[in-house]
Amino acid sequence: MDFKNDIRFRGIRPFEKKLWLSSPTIHGEEQRWVDEAIRTNWVSTIGANINEIEKNIAQYVGCRYAVALSSGTAALHVATKLAGEKLYGMARPNHGTLEGKKVFCSDVTFSASINPVAYEDGEAVFIDTEPDTWNMSPEALEKAFQIYPEVRLIVVAHLYGTPGKVAEIRRIADAHGALIVEDAAESLGARYFLPMDLCTDRDERAEAGNVNGVDGWWVETGALGDYNCISFNGNKIITGSSGGMFLTDSLEDCNKVKKWSTQSREDAPWYQHEEIGYNYRMSNIVAGIVRGQLPYLDMHIDQKRAIYERYKAGFRGLPVTMNPFDASVSEPNYWLSCLLINSDAMAPHVRGEKDQLWQHESGKSSPGEILAAMAAFNAEGRPIWKPMHMQPIYRSNPFITAEGNGRARSNAYISGKGQDVGEDLYRRGLCLPSDNKMTAEQQKIIIDIIHRCFC
Ligand SMILES: Cc1ncc(COP(=O)(O)O)c(C=O)c1O
Repeated sequence: MDFKNDIRFRGIRPFEKKLWLSSPTIHGEEQRWVDEAIRTNWVSTIGANINEIEKNIAQYVGCRYAVALSSGTAALHVATKLAGEKLYGMARPNHGTLEGKKVFCSDVTFSASINPVAYEDGEAVFIDTEPDTWNMSPEALEKAFQIYPEVRLIVVAHLYGTPGKVAEIRRIADAHGALIVEDAAESLGARYFLPMDLCTDRDERAEAGNVNGVDGWWVETGALGDYNCISFNGNKIITGSSGGMFLTDSLEDCNKVKKWSTQSREDAPWYQHEEIGYNYRMSNIVAGIVRGQLPYLDMHIDQKRAIYERYKAGFRGLPVTMNPFDASVSEPNYWLSCLLINSDAMAPHVRGEKDQLWQHESGKSSPGEILAAMAAFNAEGRPIWKPMHMQPIYRSNPFITAEGNGRARSNAYISGKGQDVGEDLYRRGLCLPSDNKMTAEQQKIIIDIIHRCFC
């Protein structure tokens, strides 16, 4: 479709500079710490920047220890491996710690959340999403434990900066003796209200609260699991250009991750190895960028919140909703603003494996049309993460919904096909330009473009 010559979009001019989904927002202080690392010759995977951010981020999140790593994916790998080792023991060199084991995993997330299960030779069982926060459904998780009671590990992500239903998930995990790997890659700075009975002594360093007569603590995401991970990828709420972090209260786990991430050297005068190692440590240069960004984390969250609220106000009257959260128990970091088109306002839009077709219908629109319209005017959006259970690589892995087995649900002799929540979000949703540097005027134009898509 030629949007620029479409009468619906008359008068709108493409943005001169591309509006990004979420790009790095650099303040200048980053330069100081990078320069300092170079000036003092600490251009390595050790140095003051690493020490500082480990201390400061552990303090911010409310965990005792932090290990700076080369990426969030690396953090998720060591977290998943640690959990596997704790549950099933040390693996032989050519075997993963989760070999032959199933792991319950968030379904609507980036593949990096759950690929480490496969790195460790485990089998991801995908758990459907709930519509209230777009995260792992506790009902589906409960169902999954009925079907696979032997499972002892859960990998939970907080989508787009909105905490999932952590209290319910924690209660289910505890009831089944399962551990939680928390993927807070997208949600650094988001908080969640944990009722007192679920709190540990660590949580008492967070802010006390009372929600609906229940006492508890507001706990940061990244401190809610047994093994916790964050990311400093270039598109995240603060960045190091890349990088990630493993967060824990266990000194033993902290030391193990430091060892694994620096090639697993034993205490010997030569290179002696008793376990597999990785080159996963963060560079002191990258840590310098994170160090310069950290003072601006709360400012970035405020900017992202303002973006979310402007979209919400701007979409009034349109048949859409935004990525939801329960304000009584969670404070998102608003990393990405998203919209969901009402079912009855969906114009035809079908996706194949790598291509798509959509068609305009008056009064309706589709993610395909809106993303194409924004792209035509030089603004970047993105589809909602394609659920992992729909990905070709994981097509044969189990998938559990609140009703039970999410695979093989249709029957040639019975009409009607149950649709899972994740598939529905993917079909009707999209991520909007959410860059901190987007001005209110620019955002108004984005909102205008989306209104015109529905004309
Ligand atoms: C939910 C989620 N998990 C994990 C990652 C991986 O982090 P990294 O890119 O730092 O490896 C990302 C983003 O990149 C993510 O969005």
